[in-house]
Formats: sequence, C-alpha cells, structure tokens
Amino acid sequence: MMSAQKSLKFKPLHATFAAEVEGIDFSKPIPDSVIAEVQEGIDKYGVLIFRNANMDNDTHVSFTRRFGELDSMPFIRRRGRFPDQPHIFDVSNLDDSGEIVKNTDRVTSMLKKGNELWHADMQYHPRRDKYSLLRAVEIPPKGLGGDTEFADSRTAYEDLSQEWKNKLKNLICDCSLIHNRRLAAPDLYKDVDPYDWSISHFKAVYPHEGSGRNNLYVTSYVYRFQGYSVEESHKMREELIAHGSQPKYVYKVAWEQPGDAVMWDNTAVWHRALDASEYIFKYRRDMRRTNTYDNGPHAWGENEVGKDWKVQLPKDPLAHESQLNRLVG
Ligand code: OGA
Ligand code: MN
Repeated sequence: MMSAQKSLKFKPLHATFAAEVEGIDFSKPIPDSVIAEVQEGIDKYGVLIFRNANMDNDTHVSFTRRFGELDSMPFIRRRGRFPDQPHIFDVSNLDDSGEIVKNTDRVTSMLKKGNELWHADMQYHPRRDKYSLLRAVEIPPKGLGGDTEFADSRTAYEDLSQEWKNKLKNLICDCSLIHNRRLAAPDLYKDVDPYDWSISHFKAVYPHEGSGRNNLYVTSYVYRFQGYSVEESHKMREELIAHGSQPKYVYKVAWEQPGDAVMWDNTAVWHRALDASEYIFKYRRDMRRTNTYDNGPHAWGENEVGKDWKVQLPKDPLAHESQLNRLVG
C-alpha cells in the first residue's frame, strides 16, 4: 500500500522530546489526515509548538475537540473572563474584568505560585487530563519572564535506577491541589489537612498510551505515597522531581509572539510556569488553555471509574490569618 502524502513537518527541539510543527493553517478547516499526523507527533514528542497559529477562542476549542472530550474550567475562585466558554481555561494574570491583578491581591499571586512547580494538569481530579493546548494572546515584554518549561518524564523514568523502579512498582500516590499550592506558597492553607478535602489517587508510573513507554507520573501534586509517611513521601517526591527536572530532560518554550500555541500530553511530560514576579502586577500575560480528558485505560487512575467530582478547597486560603486577627484584635 502506498503511504499517504504527509503534509506536516516536525522539527525536533531537544534530544529526546518536543518538536515544532509546520504546515497547519488554523484559519481553514483541518482535514482528519492532518489531525492524524498531529496525533502521531504528540505521541512521539510529548510537546508540540505551533508558532503564529493565531487561533481565536472558537478555533482553539474546536481544534482541541479533535483530540478528545473537552474538560471545562472548574471556576473555583472566580467566574473567569469567559464564563460562556467553559472550555477556555483563563490562566492569565487578569481579573474577570480584564485588568491586571493588583499587588494588593496577595492571594491570587500566591495561588499562581503552584503553577511554578512541576506538574501535570488536573492530576488532582479523579479523571486525569490528557492534552493541554495553551495559547498566548498577550505576553510580557522580553526578558521579564513568562516562559514555560517542560520535562521529559518518560525518558526520566527510563533512566531511573532499578532500585527506584522496583520501589515505584504499583505505588499509589495521594494527590492534592492544596498540597501543591502550599508547597509553593507556605502561607496558604496553613492549618489545613489535605485529607479533609479532595484527594485523587494515581499510580506513580503508567505506560503511556500512545508510545507504550512508561511515564513517571509523580509531580508536585503528590502529597503522600501510600504506605509511607508524609515526611518520607516529601523526600521521595522531591528526589524524583529533582531527577526528572535535570537540565538534560528539560526544554524551555519561549513565547515569541501572541498567536503562539503549545500542545502537550500530560501523561507523557511535566511542565511548569517560570517565575512571574517581574511581570505579574505590571504587564499583561493573557494565556488561555483548553484540555481534553484522558480516555485511555488509566484515565481514572486508582479512582472509582465513572465517579467524577471537582476539586474541593477551603474558601479562604488565608483563613488562619483572620482567625489570628480575631484572637488578637
Ligand atoms: C497551564 C500552565 C504554564 C504557564 O496553563 O497549565 O501550567 O507558563 N501554564 O502559564
Ligand atoms: Mn499547568
């Protein structure tokens, strides 16, 4: 059989993962054969960059929909700027009316810190997400931060010692968003026990559906490994993340211009936002994301299959401070 003519070009960006994709015109209908090429590329590379894709909210959503069922924004603390488009996750530094967050809004900037730790999107939900597609609408001036890093967690797994691989075999992680946020900003949720709120369960390692390679699914959302104490778990998690985030496994995506977009597979790579402190209260960074649910054999991890729920969090992440104020005031 003759193989179909390929229409896309994948330009590898790193020795083991990540590629730039050339050849898609997002302003026109995209044929199934092109989607199949993207699918093949994301299975292999884990991260795909589309420069100057120039999608709008609608094309962003409809392109993502070609890769699976869409997840929607949980609207935890805010309505978001796009309440009528729940599939657009507003991950900007803008408030609901489109203004830059104020430096008096300590909580919002602290909550955003959690994104600067290595993670896989929605690992704290019972059905994990597979793809994320993040697009830049406005970016801060060059040199003031706002880039995004990715780590090749499949290669990182393969390079682990046999001892670690044995230890991780069938190990189950208890995952918590509260934990991730507190790890990044220790003043948040100070007296909160994550086990009083929502916890998801995923194994430390799953085979990646599209490549058959094992993936290290241990990120900053992991609060405790079952069978270990919180303290032991902390050490293990930090050691694994330090291993997987060595420079040889990391690729930094520099956002070059509005219109750039990056797609990644959360079941094959980790990612993190880089330090926001130089721009967060000063320059607009309008980033929007879409996500698909995983629909593979490990979508629900070790959670009850089919029983969905959204993350639950204390209303006030600084509740302990107002309690303190009441005591002294
Ligand atoms: C995300 C995320 C990183 C960034 O949107 O899931 O982690 O650089 N973003 O904004
Ligand atoms: Mn993320």
